[in-house]
Amino acid sequence: MKLNDDARFSTICIHAGQEPDPSTGAIITPIYQTSTYVQEGLGQHKGFEYGRTQNPTRMALERNVAAIESGIAGIAFASGMAAIDAILTRLESGDHVLVSDNTYGGTFRLFERVRRKFGLCFSYVDSSNLDLIAPAITPRTKYLFLESPTNPLLRITDLAAASDIAHRHGVRVIVDNTFASPYLQRPLELGADIVVHSTTKFLNGHSDSVGGIVVVRHADDEEWMRFVQNAAGAILGPMDSWLVLRGTKTLDVRMERTNANAMALAEFLAGHPKVTETIYPGLTSHPQHKLAARQMRGFGGLISFDTGSIDAATRLLGRVRLLALAESLGGVETLISHPAVMTHASVPPERRAAIGISDGLVRISVGIEDVDDLKADLTQALA
Ligand SMILES: Cc1ncc(COP(=O)(O)O)c(C=O)c1O
Repeated sequence: MKLNDDARFSTICIHAGQEPDPSTGAIITPIYQTSTYVQEGLGQHKGFEYGRTQNPTRMALERNVAAIESGIAGIAFASGMAAIDAILTRLESGDHVLVSDNTYGGTFRLFERVRRKFGLCFSYVDSSNLDLIAPAITPRTKYLFLESPTNPLLRITDLAAASDIAHRHGVRVIVDNTFASPYLQRPLELGADIVVHSTTKFLNGHSDSVGGIVVVRHADDEEWMRFVQNAAGAILGPMDSWLVLRGTKTLDVRMERTNANAMALAEFLAGHPKVTETIYPGLTSHPQHKLAARQMRGFGGLISFDTGSIDAATRLLGRVRLLALAESLGGVETLISHPAVMTHASVPPERRAAIGISDGLVRISVGIEDVDDLKADLTQALA
């Protein structure tokens, strides 16, 4: 299937990277569940030697997501964390990474508890304030690691402007695009150098696989990431690759409904007397609403809101029936979670308080159910 150079987003999602299976014509890339490939003679093979090194299902997914994110290559890993860790392996002891201060708790834990031991240095900056970025860059800074919107406070960084600042200092820009998904924004088009995803979330979209992918735009990054994928071996398996490949086919329509549902729920929560604050980039009350409207195509599926106290949050979470109390996000089902106790438990309490993650804060990952059913469940649970 030859895609035109001007193929549009949903067409790319459905077709990029995939050809009908050469042996049968199957329209869907098969799950090549094999660990090795028989060679015709010594040194004679079809480009496939061993399952860690090459797998046709994984390679189809990698081509697909690379096209969706406008990169030159995708490199898929066993989880989002494995993908982020692989990016760090390009660095040397003593190198410094400047990180969005509201980064995902697991990323913070990897940086502080694992990679710091190996001599990497990390510091944290409110990257939504562009003035703070340049002063935080040191002669050893190699990466600016951004999340936008951040989890769970949904702060937005101007990705094009932040990339400009970093590049002026010779620093490469990594964007964790998990929260937004490439439907909302494509950071490589805005100047970033590497995009990383937990494919577990919107790309897979069905809460049935854990995975990660790195998408690059420079040949040297591709070369290293492919090398380390094979050398360290944290590959995405064929079954999970297939599930994500199936998921990206519906990314466009899922995100369209997700955006609409989330906007309606955010407005509902903002007007609810038991909610003290609603954080959603689509609300004009969001301090960076204009930037979000300019940078993103829609405002995404995550809403955070303050119930005022841990007791109120606990009551709400105990009473929801349709919304599922669970970590993760980006699936077709609506999930509700408590950042301080769940996703951000690995962030020390004083740091949580400093960045604004209160004990009453609740986060919703909005799914694609009928929004009136979601409103009804929240209405009874908040009553
Ligand atoms: C923004 C973000 N990045 C990375 C990850 C890690 O991904 P995984 O759970 O697939 O390892 C998560 C997981 O929640 C996330 O929310």
